[in-house]
Amino acid sequence: MWMRHLQAFVGKTQSCQLNTIIYDGFAGAGVYSNAWDEDIAKYGSPLIAIRVSIEHFITKGKLINRFNARASIEVGPNDGVADYRMTNYSIRVYLVEGNISNFNKLVKNVGIIFDLYAIKFIRKKRSTDCVEIFSADDSISISCRVSHEKFENVDPPHIFSSDRLVAFIDPFGYKHIPMSHVSKFVGLRKEIYINYMSQFVNRFFNVDEEGVQKLFGMAKADIESRLLPYTSDRLDNGMALYKDILKEHCGTEAFALSFEMRNIYNTRLYHMIFISCHEKGLEVMKEAMNAGTQNPTCFALSDFLISKKGQKMNLRNGQKDEDVAPVIFERFKSNQSVSIKTVRNFVIHDTIFVWRKGTLKNLCVNNKITNVLSAAGQHPQRRGTFPDHTEWFLTFAAS
Ligand SMILES: C[S@@+](CC[C@H](N)C(=O)[O-])C[C@H]1O[C@@H](n2cnc3c(N)ncnc32)[C@H](O)[C@@H]1O
Repeated sequence: MWMRHLQAFVGKTQSCQLNTIIYDGFAGAGVYSNAWDEDIAKYGSPLIAIRVSIEHFITKGKLINRFNARASIEVGPNDGVADYRMTNYSIRVYLVEGNISNFNKLVKNVGIIFDLYAIKFIRKKRSTDCVEIFSADDSISISCRVSHEKFENVDPPHIFSSDRLVAFIDPFGYKHIPMSHVSKFVGLRKEIYINYMSQFVNRFFNVDEEGVQKLFGMAKADIESRLLPYTSDRLDNGMALYKDILKEHCGTEAFALSFEMRNIYNTRLYHMIFISCHEKGLEVMKEAMNAGTQNPTCFALSDFLISKKGQKMNLRNGQKDEDVAPVIFERFKSNQSVSIKTVRNFVIHDTIFVWRKGTLKNLCVNNKITNVLSAAGQHPQRRGTFPDHTEWFLTFAAS
């Protein structure tokens, strides 16, 4: 999902001439074995970020660079080059890793990825805990800073009006993600994608008062009182409150989505929460989640479902128009006349589905939409089509 979301995020921000800023707060070493696989999704989050960025430029510029999988390569340092700065590049990747061994591996692995694409790069050691890597190829505008730091001790880069940031926060447990710090990554021009360890938080809720208070950024009594109005189960409740608090920190209208991850025993492990202040961000994330989910009724990814059904994980979009159509109809039936925009907003904000115009065709064919008219009172030329040049108004059947 990180890969799919990034592909859309990088594509959109770059095509709008914005600077794309990718921040990975718990980066890891970037690769799980020394296999240097062709498949981007098999890498850890930081190398997914680098590869998605490189492939953006290759596709856009029709460049000849191709990923050329080889065994690991030793990349020598290339210090001493004077004026390379992060801000000279249109895609900037910030990687933070707290463990020194992972940090060293990550620095080397970022270089290996550039090398496997045959992209020249400059590596500059800013200090013992900070290395920057710059593409030396004008057609690949990527800079990367790798920091050996604790996530909670480093502030995000300043975001100017031409910048858009997406942060990925993937900690072990919940101890290193105090709300006072995580909240710096939400707001205007920033999106966050955080793995909220529901199972851990639930287990330690009554044991680790200080830790839970830091996580939520409020006193335990306040957390408990805010949990009261929620129903259903404790794991979902904690996640929903956490999501609400993050939204409040956005300081403007915020859009949120959550996704649950279950293990092979069908136990929920963690939730992935996404917050954006931009509606487009929500839509893009929903598409990525939809492609990742295995469950038609909620956004969920489960080892249990895979092993029970003996199925291979399929991360392709499996949404069917016939599943979405009844949900739309239930909402708008009884002769209501509404614009396509209203229906689209309902699907994006109030259902688990992604928006596909094809669903409207399904409703027409089954006589659930009885009339389609433009504001000027005209019908589309062909039944079941809704050309974009006009705002169409749809009349739904009575029942
Ligand atoms: C769950 S792993 C991240 C995996 C990575 N996102 C990926 O997709 O491969 C968490 C990483 O965070 C590092 N870490 C632990 N505490 C940290 C902290 N306070 N700040 C930054 N990194 C930390 C660990 O060394 C580990 O590599």
